[in-house]
Amino acid sequence: MSTDGLDLLTADHLQLRRLFTQQACVEPGERAHSRVVGRIVRLITVHTFIEDEVLYPRVRRTVPHLAVGTSRAHQEHRVVNLLCVELCAPPEHVSPGATAQMLASVMTRHMVAEETVWFPQVREGLSTAQLSELGVLMIEARRHAPTAPSAATPFKRIADPVFG
Ligand SMILES: [Fe+2]
Ligand SMILES: [Fe+2]
Repeated sequence: MSTDGLDLLTADHLQLRRLFTQQACVEPGERAHSRVVGRIVRLITVHTFIEDEVLYPRVRRTVPHLAVGTSRAHQEHRVVNLLCVELCAPPEHVSPGATAQMLASVMTRHMVAEETVWFPQVREGLSTAQLSELGVLMIEARRHAPTAPSAATPFKRIADPVFG
């Protein structure tokens, strides 16, 4: 199995796209509470945590000219996580079907930007060994990642044997 960090993240994207497609097949009135939405929220929570806590700090240290991109991506994560929080709220206060649709739209756009613009730049700036080390840290972070958006507590730092 590849431990290339960007490959692992792209595999998450693929899984999310499959779930968004399944979600689109659920009756609109049922979307907010479908099991598919629960899986989407869990995967987005874990995935954005890993990028925020492992990928972005490493890129800021190792490829400083991409730091601005990490800030922008982090802000986009905040938006999708707010939508996830809203999806978990009591339905009388939100419009859950519309929120689920908005979440799919915003996250899909974010993933396309990562895959077509940002990940290739990161791949250029890091060696194969560094990408593999990143992957190992991501696998470790996944074990400790929150699975519900409200549980997105401050990150417990993971020791990085190479970059400190
Ligand atoms: Fe992201
Ligand atoms: Fe991503």
